[in-house]
Amino acid sequence: MKIIISSASGVEAVTKRELINLGYEPTAFINGKTSVNGGFVDVAKLNILLYTASRVEIELGQIKASTFDELYDNLVKLEYEKFLDKNAKIIVNAKSVMSKLFALSSIQSISKKAICTRLSNIYGSLDESGSEYKIEVNIYKDIASVLLNTSGEGLHKRGYRTLVGEAPLKETLASALVFLSVWNKDRPLADLFCGSGTILIEAVRIALKMPNTNRDFDFLHWETFDMQIFEEVKNQAESQIITDSNLKVYGYDIDVEQIKLAKYHAKKAGVSKYIEFINKDMREFTSSKTRGVIISNPPYGERLCTRKQIISIYRAFGRVFNSLNDWCCYCITSVTDFENLFGKKCKKRKLYNGKLEVNYFSYLPPKPVQKI
Ligand SMILES: C[S@@+](CC[C@H](N)C(=O)[O-])C[C@H]1O[C@@H](n2cnc3c(N)ncnc32)[C@H](O)[C@@H]1O
Repeated sequence: MKIIISSASGVEAVTKRELINLGYEPTAFINGKTSVNGGFVDVAKLNILLYTASRVEIELGQIKASTFDELYDNLVKLEYEKFLDKNAKIIVNAKSVMSKLFALSSIQSISKKAICTRLSNIYGSLDESGSEYKIEVNIYKDIASVLLNTSGEGLHKRGYRTLVGEAPLKETLASALVFLSVWNKDRPLADLFCGSGTILIEAVRIALKMPNTNRDFDFLHWETFDMQIFEEVKNQAESQIITDSNLKVYGYDIDVEQIKLAKYHAKKAGVSKYIEFINKDMREFTSSKTRGVIISNPPYGERLCTRKQIISIYRAFGRVFNSLNDWCCYCITSVTDFENLFGKKCKKRKLYNGKLEVNYFSYLPPKPVQKI
């Protein structure tokens, strides 16, 4: 079967790299999504092993849909019964881009009618009293991709973040920042504006190969899914967790409430012993270590800071960085003159923090010139 993996805009290439590292051969699907071939074992694996993906879906079919009749007639032909049982509670969500059909509520109700017709022809009457099946009918240029969501809630939900910080990053985006950096567990790591701790918690989870097994997934509730498969995949993934590491990473935040939150989340994620959260102004950060990496998400936007405060914080950030020996710095922010304030020419990559366009700035120290 064809499994479709979605990730946030700008993160697709990182997810693709993760898939390749897991041994898959990803191919491009529509709207920046990626597809791989596989079975239920892979559905389980992808849901728990990918750090940057937002959802894992099964493709039920691709059909022509330039009129409502065509949509209905083609939808009735798809084999929902392979996955949906007699009591399936069916939730249809519609999207349409550059297509003749664009009235989403009509697409939704016609799609649901077609799916129910197909299933009642097979099972008899349906009562929808069972587990949820979320089906996305995604029409692009008059072709509808019909996708069954196996994840349920977005995969950024790891199960450890139960309290909400000031302006937290999604866990999937925080993971992408780590993958896009040069950091590995043999180098020092610090987040000087750690907030509720997301970047550091995800960095430790990645370094120690901790899977996303501390949450629920929709496919676990389906009669058509064999739980034994999940147990095996889960046990295998958990047996790979590195437990004998002396990894230590550091988080600073000026706000004591954020530090409390970060400690609470780290404990829930099972990574407390690897992270030291310190309630200090980042201006006090020093380190005698070399080749360290900073990955940070400083405040931006008027809700958190005035422009005057931004200027002061970002300039101070640059000064702190200058005092470090041979470190790299990565910073996600919507502040467009970051390089001016920080005082270094950086590379930048466009990402989205939710709907907000941001840049991921990176500064790597120049390589020493080799003497011949
Ligand atoms: C955008 S939030 C970081 C959110 C974090 N990435 C998360 O996922 O929760 C920015 C953080 O910078 C902190 N901050 C602001 N000024 C600071 C300073 N001078 N030193 C250290 N932290 C500071 C704020 O308290 C806030 O928690």
